[in-house]
Amino acid sequence: MTDKTFFAAARLEDLPPGAKIVVEVGGISVLLCNTNDRIFAVRNLCSHAYETLECGRIRNGWISCPVHGARFDLETGAPINPPATMPIETYVVRVVGDFIEVEV
Ligand code: FES
Repeated sequence: MTDKTFFAAARLEDLPPGAKIVVEVGGISVLLCNTNDRIFAVRNLCSHAYETLECGRIRNGWISCPVHGARFDLETGAPINPPATMPIETYVVRVVGDFIEVEV
């Protein structure tokens, strides 16, 4: 039993390959990223010093924090390099018609 729900977060056309956008889903700032032929959703918050990730670089399924340079796996949220040691939060994403939906 889960109390999570899918919310329409963005239009598919607003997130072309290589792009990222910030959306608010259920009161949470979520970063949608299109990389590696997939759409990922992560919390727009670095686990290191709690800065936002929206200005970070995405490539090959990871995002780098613009503040101190930690990289995170967009699928698992796991840190790839220091200074971060804790994962970032990730969310389940699905595409329904023209919309990207995020489960929160
Ligand atoms: S705030 Fe992201 S690596 Fe320091």
